[in-house]
Amino acid sequence: MRMVDVIEKKRDGHELTQEEIRYIVKGYTNGEIPDYQMSAFAMAVYFKGMSQDERVFLTEAMVQSGDQIDLSAIEGVKVDKHSTGGVGDTTTLVLAPLVASVGVPVAKMSGRGLGHTGGTIDKLEAVPGFHVEITNDEFMKLVNQNKIAVIGQSANLTPADKKLYALRDVTATVDSIPLIASSIMSKKIASGADAIVLDVKTGHGAFMKTLEDSVDLAKAMVGIGNGVGRNTMAVISDMSQPLGLAIGNALEVKEAIDTLKGEGPEDLYELCMTLGSHMVVLAGKAGSAEEARNMLQQSIDSGKALETLKLFLSAQGGDASVVDDPEKLPAASYIIEVPAKEAGYVGEIMAEEIGTAAMVLGAGRATKESVIDLAVGLILNKKVGDYVEAGESLVTIHSNTEDVTEVMNQIYDAYTVVKEQVQPPTLIYKEIF
Ligand code: URA
Ligand code: CA
Repeated sequence: MRMVDVIEKKRDGHELTQEEIRYIVKGYTNGEIPDYQMSAFAMAVYFKGMSQDERVFLTEAMVQSGDQIDLSAIEGVKVDKHSTGGVGDTTTLVLAPLVASVGVPVAKMSGRGLGHTGGTIDKLEAVPGFHVEITNDEFMKLVNQNKIAVIGQSANLTPADKKLYALRDVTATVDSIPLIASSIMSKKIASGADAIVLDVKTGHGAFMKTLEDSVDLAKAMVGIGNGVGRNTMAVISDMSQPLGLAIGNALEVKEAIDTLKGEGPEDLYELCMTLGSHMVVLAGKAGSAEEARNMLQQSIDSGKALETLKLFLSAQGGDASVVDDPEKLPAASYIIEVPAKEAGYVGEIMAEEIGTAAMVLGAGRATKESVIDLAVGLILNKKVGDYVEAGESLVTIHSNTEDVTEVMNQIYDAYTVVKEQVQPPTLIYKEIF
């Protein structure tokens, strides 16, 4: 087989065979196919797309390019959740203990990565003593015992995707639905989940800015998941403004604790109940989303969800007393309010700008070498649709530097306050099976 012929075939809009796709992925991963040919191929896919079969073949080939995690030592149906990313997305911290508390095994592999705030592991490390340096055997044992554990991501997961994603990044071929969908799904599938719930974000602060694109991506990922035999569904949720009120590592841990007590922000709570219900159903623990929701609600009301969080934290070396005593979490030196310049209704909060402000404070990594400050971040006191008096606080800044002029200006740029009443945005747009 010659790469040039495969590129030409895709360029002319023909469907590739499984053998051809395997040849490309294998050859590119081991260095036999050079970047310039793979770039041309990615561009051909960008313009001509991929059939459902081609997407499944591509995903499977990328899964097979590296380690595949075997979770079969864990009892029950392992359900994973994936979010396409956003600002202040505290869902994993809430969902993991919540669904574990009703018997769904949560075997979470998580990363650190770049972004406005840290990844799930960084956030959890705000709990003194908590660590993810456990062996695979310990990981499996903890999940069987407590229904929940988190471990760092294997270094050799989907090397084909790593290499291709980096190439796409510099060849203007990231924005291709089949390439994005196979990239995300290959990582989830290699991580060993039996079933997958996807939270596809839509709006300003999301990877996909329009509802139409978000639905297309969700359908593509659900198609791949089900196509490789992993039960998959997607929820399309709003990211036109940040989710919840907290953006920052320790601040989000506190927000997750509040939510597991039933005292969290309405939007975060509702999204977690929706995603969680689908996870419980896919795990075979409930017959319907409604029944699952009742189980989750009972677990919050009885305190079982919170107990599961404590068990999880202490099993991995964490000081679980932070759950009853959140003051023990890292705290910032300066607490600074951002007063509204005029009275009115919050018309818009640009999520991306708020995320950048949190990163400037030190809550996230700009480069791989950046060190995260777990204590800093933002608390939104007003969300879209809320009324604000002149001088009333829009946002509370938690900072370890006294001068926050730049961050304040970013917050003023992100917020729009208008005279007319504004409806809060829809939180959940669609569910795709
Ligand atoms: N995230 C990924 O993991 N892959 C993509 O291609 C795009 C976003
Ligand atoms: Ca949040």
